[in-house]
Amino acid sequence: MQMNTKDWNPNLYLKFGKERIQPSIDLVMRIEMDEPSTIIDIGCGPGNSTQILAHRWPDAEIVGIDNSPAMIEKAKSDYSNQNWYVVDADKDEIEGKYDIVFSNAVIQWIPDHPKLFKKFYNLLTNNGLIAIQVPIFWDMPLGKAIANVASQNQWASKTKGATKQFTIHDYHFYYDILSEIFKSVDIWESHYMHVVDSHLSILEMIRSTGLRPFHNLLEKDTDKQAFEDMVLRHIEKDYPLQKNGKVLLPFKRLFFIAKK
Ligand SMILES: C[S@@+](CC[C@H](N)C(=O)[O-])C[C@H]1O[C@@H](n2cnc3c(N)ncnc32)[C@H](O)[C@@H]1O
Repeated sequence: MQMNTKDWNPNLYLKFGKERIQPSIDLVMRIEMDEPSTIIDIGCGPGNSTQILAHRWPDAEIVGIDNSPAMIEKAKSDYSNQNWYVVDADKDEIEGKYDIVFSNAVIQWIPDHPKLFKKFYNLLTNNGLIAIQVPIFWDMPLGKAIANVASQNQWASKTKGATKQFTIHDYHFYYDILSEIFKSVDIWESHYMHVVDSHLSILEMIRSTGLRPFHNLLEKDTDKQAFEDMVLRHIEKDYPLQKNGKVLLPFKRLFFIAKK
């Protein structure tokens, strides 16, 4: 299959697989349900986080959906015995009823969260629950660095609209809208301390995620490089080197589990 350059790059995404999988492990561990029959992983990416669900509940029927053909292709090739479909969680109808609607690091790409949660609610069986993690990207120096560079004269018109491609609210907002429709809401935040080899590793880590909307708007490779270089200068300033040369990247993530 020919890769659409604006599509996600599963191999680049999986390069930091260990860092990306931990929130899924933690979220799955917090779910109180013994034997779900059906589970859907919304925005399953290359399918690695889906394996945490499959590992905990080997008898459940699990479906993974994602709107990226490249991600679904990768999931199908790595886990060919499981069920993967290209579906847009925002625009398409999602079929079926599920005991667990799981979604890790995805909803920030979808603009209308109240509408999305109603859609998730309607996918649940009577005693079902949703389990969601969202990175609180704009609170971190890293997110602020990208927003700062994008707002500078040189880039403002070229990257117009990119920051709006992420929708991230705070915990007050999520608690209020969830408690209106769900019976109970468990909500928490964690700071993950990623230990990375260098400042460049931080840039590489977000090249396949947080930088994508900016890269997609910057047509020329020279512009992409110049934009990244400016972000890197901020990263060098905001994240000091440790004594052994490594860099700590604190990454803030918000979680919630809401029961029908
Ligand atoms: C940061 S990755 C997370 C992948 C996986 N859940 C994980 O934990 O590793 C975000 C994923 O959300 C998917 N995504 C973004 N918008 C989506 C939408 N509207 N419908 C379905 N998937 C979407 C992307 O294609 C990408 O695979």
